[in-house]
Amino acid sequence: MQFKKLPVDPRVVRANRLVERALNRAVRSYDGLKSSIGLAGRKARYDDANYEFFGGARDTLRAKHYDKSMRLLWKAEEHAPWLSFKDCTPGERSLREMALRSLTEEEQAARARIAAPEYKALLNREYTRREKQAIVNILSAIGHGEAYAWLVSAELLTVVESTGARAALTMQVLEEAKHFVVLRELLQAFEVPIPRQSAWEYMFMEGVYKASGLEKLFGMNVLVEGVALSLFGLLCELPGLEVLRLFHLDESRHTALPSNYLKEFPLSLWERHHPLKRWRRLRMVLPALGMISALEEDMAELGLDAFDFGGSVLRKISHLAHRNGFFLPVPRKTLLAGLNVVFNGYCKATRAKHSFTDFTGAETTLGARELEVEREIFEGVVAFA
Ligand SMILES: [Fe+2]
Ligand SMILES: [Fe+2]
Repeated sequence: MQFKKLPVDPRVVRANRLVERALNRAVRSYDGLKSSIGLAGRKARYDDANYEFFGGARDTLRAKHYDKSMRLLWKAEEHAPWLSFKDCTPGERSLREMALRSLTEEEQAARARIAAPEYKALLNREYTRREKQAIVNILSAIGHGEAYAWLVSAELLTVVESTGARAALTMQVLEEAKHFVVLRELLQAFEVPIPRQSAWEYMFMEGVYKASGLEKLFGMNVLVEGVALSLFGLLCELPGLEVLRLFHLDESRHTALPSNYLKEFPLSLWERHHPLKRWRRLRMVLPALGMISALEEDMAELGLDAFDFGGSVLRKISHLAHRNGFFLPVPRKTLLAGLNVVFNGYCKATRAKHSFTDFTGAETTLGARELEVEREIFEGVVAFA
């Protein structure tokens, strides 16, 4: 390549360089001094001299979350073509058309693009209006949760250290944004009113959003993801809701993020055991208990026991919390036994016939593939056995 060089005055170049160096020293020393006395110095936790975020590259985290998310990134246009999304590239669209052409006519008809009116007809064929309302009431709880997941993961992005962890969180922000907008449109297709957040959901999500520092990782990737994973696992087998399998897969990656991150940047003994932190974690969980009884009527409409679901979720959450060193004020086994007593007490008082049930031993994820995905998460190594 031949460039036609332009003349520059070397004295001006030198002067510019000297000014920049002096300014660089001044601005960095000033910020450094402010940081050293506890004032706000440089805001970005970015190490520009090494072209890296503080915390280093951490390529393992990047590979496990960013690369994997990129590989598994799904498009709403392909998996829920009856919605309004146009997020496939021309390449993806033509690949899909080529794949469809290789099918027999019958297979093509079966796989033919389902349009919004056909999707709504399918819902009306499969469900009564009350059942549709029950599905929307249950799923809207996590639909509102996705809005908070989007906000909280965007804040967590500024909390975590290292390039790998930031890349991982960036993918989570993108996936939560997708979950929110896709689930919102999916629920609108049911054509029944979408409820506001219940008081329990409001308190639960606000508690998670207001948690400080890495405690957000507990609130978000342990609690909210635990609930989301369980709800998607519970409902993804229902007709018209198969796309929830993809949500379930994304959430399973999100629940694995704390253990992968904390392997690289472990919580200190103090952070794990601090009595106030342990109490605050329990306080974050408590509103979720109210959500269980609030969902009882709608779950019963679909033949599901809300307390089986609640027990299953709380077992999974307590496993994730314990594995990551986010300890609670009471040991895991005592907590689960206590929850069983409370749930059974409530059911005995409110149900005509009730015999003792091991709610926290229940498994409410239904799909075989989803159970396999969860087995990988929950049979992982327990760091703090
Ligand atoms: Fe999500
Ligand atoms: Fe998530």
